[in-house]
Amino acid sequence: MSNNNIQSILQETRIFEPSDEFIAQANIKATDVALMKQKAEEDYTGFWGDLAKEHIDWQTPFTTILDDSKAPHYQWFSDGRLNVSYNCLDRHIADKGDKTAIIFEGEPGDIRKISYKELLADVSQFANALKAQGVGKGDRVIIYLPMVAEGVVAMQACARIGAIHSVVFGGFSAEALKDRANDAEAKIIITADGGNRGGKPVELKKAVDAALDAGCPSVEKVIVLQRTNHGVDMQEGRDIWWHDAINGQSTECEPEWVDAEHPLFLLYTSGSTGKPKGIQHSSAGYLLQAIITNKWVFDQKASDTFWCTADIGWITGHTYVAYGPLALGTTQLIYEGAPTVPDSGRFWKICQDHQVSIFYTAPTAIRALMRFGDDVPNSYDLSKLRLLGTVGEPINPEAWMWYHNVIGQEKCPIMDTWWQTETGGHMIAPLPGITALKPGSCTHALPGIIADVVDKEGNSIENANEGGFLVIKKPFPSMLRTIWNDDSRYAETYWPMFDGKYYLAGDSAYIDEDGYFWIMGRIDDVLNVSGHRLGTMEVESALVAHPSVTEAAVVGKPHEVKGEAIVAFITCKGDRPTGDKADKMIEELRAWVAKEIGPIAKPDDIRFADGLPKTRSGKIMRRLLRAIAKGEEITQDTSTLENEAVVEQLQGKA
Ligand code: WTA
Repeated sequence: MSNNNIQSILQETRIFEPSDEFIAQANIKATDVALMKQKAEEDYTGFWGDLAKEHIDWQTPFTTILDDSKAPHYQWFSDGRLNVSYNCLDRHIADKGDKTAIIFEGEPGDIRKISYKELLADVSQFANALKAQGVGKGDRVIIYLPMVAEGVVAMQACARIGAIHSVVFGGFSAEALKDRANDAEAKIIITADGGNRGGKPVELKKAVDAALDAGCPSVEKVIVLQRTNHGVDMQEGRDIWWHDAINGQSTECEPEWVDAEHPLFLLYTSGSTGKPKGIQHSSAGYLLQAIITNKWVFDQKASDTFWCTADIGWITGHTYVAYGPLALGTTQLIYEGAPTVPDSGRFWKICQDHQVSIFYTAPTAIRALMRFGDDVPNSYDLSKLRLLGTVGEPINPEAWMWYHNVIGQEKCPIMDTWWQTETGGHMIAPLPGITALKPGSCTHALPGIIADVVDKEGNSIENANEGGFLVIKKPFPSMLRTIWNDDSRYAETYWPMFDGKYYLAGDSAYIDEDGYFWIMGRIDDVLNVSGHRLGTMEVESALVAHPSVTEAAVVGKPHEVKGEAIVAFITCKGDRPTGDKADKMIEELRAWVAKEIGPIAKPDDIRFADGLPKTRSGKIMRRLLRAIAKGEEITQDTSTLENEAVVEQLQGKA
């Protein structure tokens, strides 16, 4: 990447200062932050050590803060022992046992409130059930559930017994599930008969059956939650209902004390190759960032009802649903279904009915809901909202202003949080009550996070507004520890430059004249569709697996709601399909990708040609394809192409 390739198209000058009212009550004050930043500068490890002592309950206190002897596999607090579930549940029972931990609302409208005491009992009982099924410390457990409270119960139960969970998003296909179960060598899968989404059941159990039929040799048992009750096959000896598994199990379960570095979970995410990466997180370092960011960035307090709309299948649903809010003793809301069922006011109705005070969602959801007009949110009482957040992709200033004016009624600060599956928690984000906001900017790095924008050699870019690589210059507690079973890919992907000293995020960014960070996009072949990361290679591999396809190239193009839409360029065996044949093939390929990966990966646009445009060395000319996808004038030199006609075919002109 050369820096002059990256140009900012955003020009945003509005600034929103925090209100005096917000400043007066914020969890974190400007003076604290100044002191913290000073401490981080003078005594970096001491800064993190103090926070870890303050926020985590340790069974055995740590004496070492940072151990870099195995760098880039940095270890934090490594001789300390703790249990994450203990920190999320047990420690609240004495003074908050009856407080509501989770308010669950199903898509059909069923509501259930679970207190901290009840949640601890549910988690302990399910933990005992897992043990009875032969799951122990270090075993991998796949969780493939709808967005229901039991998802959090299952995750916490794994943490309680030291099992390593790997949540697979319920929208992923049987194929994707199988690949992840096999890479993790999972012993057990926890699923449901189905989930309610968009008014119909999501066939989770059927997908598990298909994955196991296709071959998951390590999986011994399947625990099935009854949710939709729409009738599924149960295989004798292998499948067991959740309610049968917990039947007779004690509601008390002593937590398994684990080392700080014990893997809490794996979460598969896309990279630039076809194979998803099992991002491995630690216990203590991860928990620490989950706690401090929920407290500082979201300003969570005893009186709040927090709602993060992310599914537990994504990192956001780990840190800002399953762990962080519970570790702080917050009341949170979990909603199972689609934002448009029964109508486009559902989110706002939920905010009103449950008096949500902090709301965290993705720009794609904001843009989608904005389209229905202001009258929809205006017909609900959103007065309890006091803070808003966004994550997943840059938010365009228009959507930011709508969120601010219509949803936040001009009084809620908007926390635009930049982070990744790999970083475990927020890295660059405003602090409410302190940071003046600029729509579209994630503002500044949090205390202790040393972020910068550098050139290829790792030198800081001195000029304001000039793009470069976003890096984090010091290891931090919540960073990923490795890619499961692939230490070398971990080192190559995240520490390729600067002597392996800087963490390379894979995003391009620039810093403006006021020191604000602006994220510009990915530097690798990763698409960002509706705030979800998809590797172009993953989609290409799925397409070429179709018997009629010989070659496929996938690029992104800007999309009003989804951020990016997928465009696929394809050559087929035999003649290039045209007319009705092409239309049929397009439908078939879209359904194929949905089956191979999941509906979110379906290309929006598929074009056929006799060949794909390639350089002399045989590399697909992706820049040319991106220009074609956007319908732009072709400015690249196409004279080296063997068959120049393919460009016109791909443009749809021939
Ligand atoms: C993008 C999601 C701009 C970015 C937590 C990053 C963002 C990738 C923002 C990680 C933001 C996330 N502004 N871009 N506030 N937040 N991104 O792993 O490209 O699903 O690298 O984690 O999303 O996506 P992931």
